[in-house]
This record gives sequence, structure tokens and C-alpha cells, in this order.
Amino acid sequence: MSTFDASVLRQIATTHGTPVWVYDAATIRQRIADLKAFDTIRFAQKANSNIHLLRLMREQGVVVDAVSLGEIERALAAGYQGGGDGPSGIVFTADLLDRATLARIVELDIPVNAGSIDMLRQLGEAAPGHRVWLRINPGFGHGHSNKTNTGGEHSKHGIWHADLPLALEVIRERGLKLVGLHMHIGSGVDYSHLQQVCQAMVELVRRAGAPIEAISAGGGLSVPYRDGEPRIDTAHYFSLWDDARRQIAAHLGHAVHLEIEPGRYLVAEAGVLLGEVRATKQMGNNHFVLVDAGFNDLMRPSMYGSYHAISVLGAAADAPLQPSVVAGPLCESGDVFTQGEGGVVLTRDLPAARVGDLLVFHDAGAYGASMSSNYNSRPLIPEVMVDGAEVRLIRRRQTVAELLALEAC
Ligand code: LLP
Repeated sequence: MSTFDASVLRQIATTHGTPVWVYDAATIRQRIADLKAFDTIRFAQKANSNIHLLRLMREQGVVVDAVSLGEIERALAAGYQGGGDGPSGIVFTADLLDRATLARIVELDIPVNAGSIDMLRQLGEAAPGHRVWLRINPGFGHGHSNKTNTGGEHSKHGIWHADLPLALEVIRERGLKLVGLHMHIGSGVDYSHLQQVCQAMVELVRRAGAPIEAISAGGGLSVPYRDGEPRIDTAHYFSLWDDARRQIAAHLGHAVHLEIEPGRYLVAEAGVLLGEVRATKQMGNNHFVLVDAGFNDLMRPSMYGSYHAISVLGAAADAPLQPSVVAGPLCESGDVFTQGEGGVVLTRDLPAARVGDLLVFHDAGAYGASMSSNYNSRPLIPEVMVDGAEVRLIRRRQTVAELLALEAC
């Protein structure tokens, strides 16, 4: 959990208003350093695709994954490039190629991590010789919620493991160039499932004999959202993959490059959402604390029942606690930050919060801003980067006029 100086957060709220996202650059650098043993760290930018944050990644030697035309353009704006030798600045991962994205990928020579055989066919037709990865669904998956499990037969993701020979045949037929195999079984995955993936990768290569230069461990690494939750032992995780890589290299008779593709792990703990309490009320037995941020800003609690630690800025450590339901301004009952899976409303023991207090939603740097929407015609909120003593606005607040302008047709 990032700890910002309370006076810095107060100053940011005064300067930029609330709600506002705040990120700590030092935490991001630390999380990158945790994974440095991997040959390549590829940031899954869907977790947070602010261009300034991508620039920070690039300065640290981290490359990126893109999953849409918009993410490709963001990566380019941050200074990444498509083609070239070595680990490509951008790899495009998806289960389908829309026509506009396919054209841009070919133009920029961006390697594609293909999640379907149809992608291979279409790419081969448009650009023989194009470099491809194969995203393989190993037949099992896991996630912090069913919605983030990306493996097994109920998932739409990846090429089914038994179809690898067919994929290799299409690659040969269409003159594509195979770079590597990739597996990503889900997001917020527990450690026992993560560990199974390396073995699945080794067995797959042995069985299908794919002529690869590289393997990717995908992402999925969880972070401690609750007090006392353990952090993944990244050195141990690397050693498992390093061992898998050695077995594959021995089988193929040449060295194999090892990538990892985390999103959450690099940025979740670096970010907070800051909101102001604007009303409190008692509803029967429940004490409600209403803030100016809603699920259009931080969607994870409403979408997955996710837990984010909440604190009242500046509250004394020994302040008496009050069971509170923390909710937002949206005209929808599910706009509650303290809820479990299935939408059950929960209370959280918090120091008594009054109108005007600032609430901090912790560990919101991943899948926070990037999943925000304009629901209830609420403009996107600003993002601020704190880097040591420097505090920098990295996205300004959207205006209502900008929202309306889209419809001026
Ligand atoms: N690689 C691929 C192909 C992915 O689909 C994803 C995430 C990642 C890497 C990065 O996964 P991570 O390391 O962040 O777990 N909105 C959800 C998470 C959805 C993840 C989708 N794919 C949440 O807020 O928890």
C-alpha cells in the first residue's frame, strides 16, 4: 500500500479538486525492480495506460502489451515502437483483429500475440512474414473473480492447447514467423495456480515441438489488497519459470528468452483514489458515508466485489471506529465501495468521517482510471503523479463541454 504524506494529498485535493487519482512513481520503480530477473518485463497497459506512466515504464526498460488500437496509439505516444530486433516495444494481444487495427499493426510491424486461428489466417493474408506469438489456453485458469479467469473451456481467451499443431500448420502455410508461446490464465491468480502454468508450458512444447525463441509467463500476479495478505515471492516465481525455460531450451537445443506480462503487480499499490465526503446519513442500522467518487471512477468493488482499503485522511490512529457503508454519488444502488461479490452491502470500521473529510481508497493504481466511464454524464477525473518532491498533473479533468461536443453532429 502506498503511503502518501497527508499534506501532499491535501494539497493535491486543493489544487486539482476531488475526486482525483494519485500515483507514486517510486512504488512503480520498486515493483519493476522486483521482476528484473526476467529477460523482459512487458507491462499489460490495460491496468493503467496513462501516457506519462507508460513513459516511466519505458525509462525503466519495461516494454508494453496493447490490446486495442487506442492502446497501440498510447504506446506510440509514450515513445514505444513496433518493429525492430530484440524484445519488441509493443506486442498486440487479442482474440480477434478488427479491420482498422489489423491495418495499423501491419503498417507499424507490431508483433501479434494471437488468441485465435482466425487471427493467424487474417494476418498471414495481409502480411506474410509477420511475427506472431501464440496465446495458448492450457485448459485451466484462475482469477480473483470468475470474471478475471482467462483459462479453461468457459473462457473465450487463447488458442485451445490441443489446437497448437493446427496453429503451427497455419503459421507455416501463411508464411508467418513464430516468436514464442504465451500463457495467461487469469488476473489476481493464487500462487498454486500460477505455479502450474510453467509445467503446462514445458509439457506443451515437448508435445508439439513448437520452434520457438521465447516464452511468456503472462501476468496475473496478485498484490496484497488486505492487511496481512502475503506478497508473492517474485524470486521464487522467477526460479520456477527459469527452470521451465531451461527445460524447454534443452529440448529445443537453443536458448529461450523469458518474458513476464504483469499489469496489476506493477501499478496497483502505487495508486490511490482521493474523494471528499459530501454527506453522511443513517439508514436504519446502517451509517452511510457518501463521497464524490463513484463506480464510474473506481469500478472494481461494484464489478467484482473487490476490496480496497479505505482511510480517512488525517484521522488519529486511535480514533474510535464506526461501522460504515461507503458509497458514491451515482443514481444506482450498486454504487457502494464496501461490498462483496454478488453486490452484498458490507460495513467497514472507519474513524467517524464528517462532511469535508477526505477519504483515501488504497491500491487503486491498477484497473482504476483505466476502467472509468462517463456514466451519469460524469467527466473523467484528473490523475497526478508524485515523484519524490515533484507533484505533476498527468491528466487534467475532463469537462462536461467535452462530453457534449461528441454529440454536436
Ligand atoms: N496479459 C493478458 C493477456 C491479460 O489479459 C491481462 C489482464 C494481463 C496480462 C495482466 O493481468 P494482471 O497482471 O494485471 O493480473 N479488471 C480486472 C482485471 C482484468 C485483467 C484482464 N487481463 C480487475 O480489476 O481486477
